[in-house]
Amino acid sequence: MDGRYLIRTFGCQMNEHDSERIGGMLRADGMRPARDVADARVVVLNTCAIRENADNRLYGNLGHLKPLKAKDPDLRIVVAGCLAQKDQGTIQERAPWVDVVVGTHALPHLLDLLRRAEREGPQMDVREYTELFPSALPAARDDAFRAWVSIAVGCDNACTFCIVPFVRGAQRSRAIGDVLAEVQGLARNGVVEVTLLGQNVNTYGRDLSVPGSSRRSLFAELLRRVNEVDGLRRIRFTSPHPHDFTPDVVEAMAESEKVCEHIHFPLQSGSDAVLRAMQRSYRRERYLGWLERIREAIPGIAVSTDIIVGFPGETERDFEDTLDVVERAGFDSAYTFQYSPRPGTRAATMPDQLPKEVVQERFDRLVTLQERISLERARGQVGSEVEVLVEGEGRRGLSTQSRTRTNRIVHLAEPFDPGTFVTARVTGAAAHHLTGEAVPTPVLA
Ligand code: 5AD
Ligand code: SF4
Repeated sequence: MDGRYLIRTFGCQMNEHDSERIGGMLRADGMRPARDVADARVVVLNTCAIRENADNRLYGNLGHLKPLKAKDPDLRIVVAGCLAQKDQGTIQERAPWVDVVVGTHALPHLLDLLRRAEREGPQMDVREYTELFPSALPAARDDAFRAWVSIAVGCDNACTFCIVPFVRGAQRSRAIGDVLAEVQGLARNGVVEVTLLGQNVNTYGRDLSVPGSSRRSLFAELLRRVNEVDGLRRIRFTSPHPHDFTPDVVEAMAESEKVCEHIHFPLQSGSDAVLRAMQRSYRRERYLGWLERIREAIPGIAVSTDIIVGFPGETERDFEDTLDVVERAGFDSAYTFQYSPRPGTRAATMPDQLPKEVVQERFDRLVTLQERISLERARGQVGSEVEVLVEGEGRRGLSTQSRTRTNRIVHLAEPFDPGTFVTARVTGAAAHHLTGEAVPTPVLA
């Protein structure tokens, strides 16, 4: 196909990763990225189903595209991602001007679907099983120096609030050799930072083992092997699950110098009763115990988390337990969510769904507390010298945005090319970023 494409991505890093592959396939087919919708021959909405209003937003966006399609019948509209998998035929029933609905397992077939749509009209592929990992597809990346690498898709857990197992299926891991080959290829092409992606990285490889053999997690081994890849400087991963966390992963993190000092460790709730109702099998003390152990093994590690407020049946006491864990854990940052019932999940039919005002009020208290803690943690960095990797222009082009190994954003006054490593002295702190200045490298006499 010729012409230009536009991709809008909603949701998590999995979708970012898939969008890179969607762009890669379209580019391999002869297309180029568009600047805006008016410029595009193919528009892809890569959707997310995790939180409320995702469907309203999708149908809102499709509503905006309808008159464009009426004016230009050659425009091709694609809905991909988790909502495509979840809503399937409903999408084209409600928006018959959509040309292609491509589910999470069918991504490799996108070009075929587009071609068939040219000849035969609207197409849909929402098959239930991943045959080819999207990682095997070509990628079109925004940055030349960092990349997502998928190590597993799907999830075998059944957290009662979560739609992911329904739309991404059971966990399927990529062979360790395939992951390594991809990382080696990336490093040869100048990529210095990779983020390993899986819904639950700690169970990576479980589905690869021979039935009856040990169910030992391969994730620690994977970290050590990726650490050996020449040219690579930083390794990140997301997300580990507190339930399946193992000491060998902490050891591998501590001993692999390229693995960054940051962990995203989803708490979800600090109340044991709520964790039980969520079907998350760890408890508050065990979670805090892991944090202690991780911090002991990896001094200075930054910790971020996900927290849901207002799960069905959450009492004021339960919520106070969450505030208490947040205080004791001292997270560097937290993604906070108001519980939203996802149709089809167990929690959606639980009694005691909380009124919006209660959830909002608790949410505001949690955010206030976490902002205070984030700011305190950031202030603790002032005066230190850190290695940062330059990402690009900062806000309004006034500064350069860079990132520490601990995943903190640092705004530098001086300009640097994206992908450059700089030593910076931290001069200021806010809850969500630091400011700093480059430390001149000593000139050898
Ligand atoms: N309501 C609110 N937040 C949710 N998350 C997942 N499902 C829901 C839901 N139904 C949050 C969890 C998860 C993050 C990616 O999104 O905190 O870790
Ligand atoms: Fe959802 Fe739980 Fe799986 Fe995470 S571990 S994707 S929250 S079911």
